[in-house]
Amino acid sequence: MNDHTFQENVVVLTGASSGIGREMAYQLARQGAWLSLAARDVQRLEQVANTCREAGARTLVIETDVAEESQCQRLIARTIENYGRIDTLINNAGITMWALFEEMQTLAPFERIIQVNYFGSLFCTYYALPYRKRERATVCYRQPGGQNRRAYSQRICRQQARSGGPIRFVAHRTGLIRRQRHACIPGLRRH
Ligand SMILES: NC(=O)c1ccc[n+]([C@@H]2O[C@H](COP(=O)([O-])OP(=O)(O)OC[C@H]3O[C@@H](n4cnc5c(N)ncnc54)[C@H](OP(=O)(O)O)[C@@H]3O)[C@@H](O)[C@H]2O)c1
Repeated sequence: MNDHTFQENVVVLTGASSGIGREMAYQLARQGAWLSLAARDVQRLEQVANTCREAGARTLVIETDVAEESQCQRLIARTIENYGRIDTLINNAGITMWALFEEMQTLAPFERIIQVNYFGSLFCTYYALPYRKRERATVCYRQPGGQNRRAYSQRICRQQARSGGPIRFVAHRTGLIRRQRHACIPGLRRH
């Protein structure tokens, strides 16, 4: 992937306010992408957006809880209003948890995880689908979390920041999932 792979590529990136999503936003901005950054924490999103703009990227901040279908619909609609198309959807927003069953009073946290991780990706993909098909765009999903997620996450972010290199891309071309193309997932490689 060269430095301009995402030049003027309209990217909807969920979970852009921290961690891997934030680092992806910075790398995409340096490549000249047009960004739609989504998460719940607008203040942190604005900080990320400012850094992206300083790098020369057109950047839009859209407060979004991906667990809410209507907010995902609005995220896609506002992106289209502003940029006129969607080239890449990165379903990065996600949560996880670690607990022993015997320590859990309720299984309710799992409902939230499914709502955010599963339905969040589903809602965004569903509403972006007509545009993705038209533009033959790319959709990317995060991989499920591995062990020692927190430590691994910090290590990935540090490595990405240090190297300034591209995040490994492994997603599927939309519509038909024909072949691997771009991905924006750190993957679970051990370094
Ligand atoms: N780190 C790893 O080792 C690893 C490995 C495999 C997969 N992953 C996956 O990669 C993704 C990013 O991981 P990370 O380590 O960067 O996590 P992180 O630092 O906790 O960041 C998660 C991002 O998702 C956003 N988010 C959480 N709930 C949301 C919601 N309901 N609606 C919209 N945005 C929401 C958060 O923003 P707000 O709080 O502002 O909403 C934040 O920007 C996650 O999906 C994770 O499961 C991580």
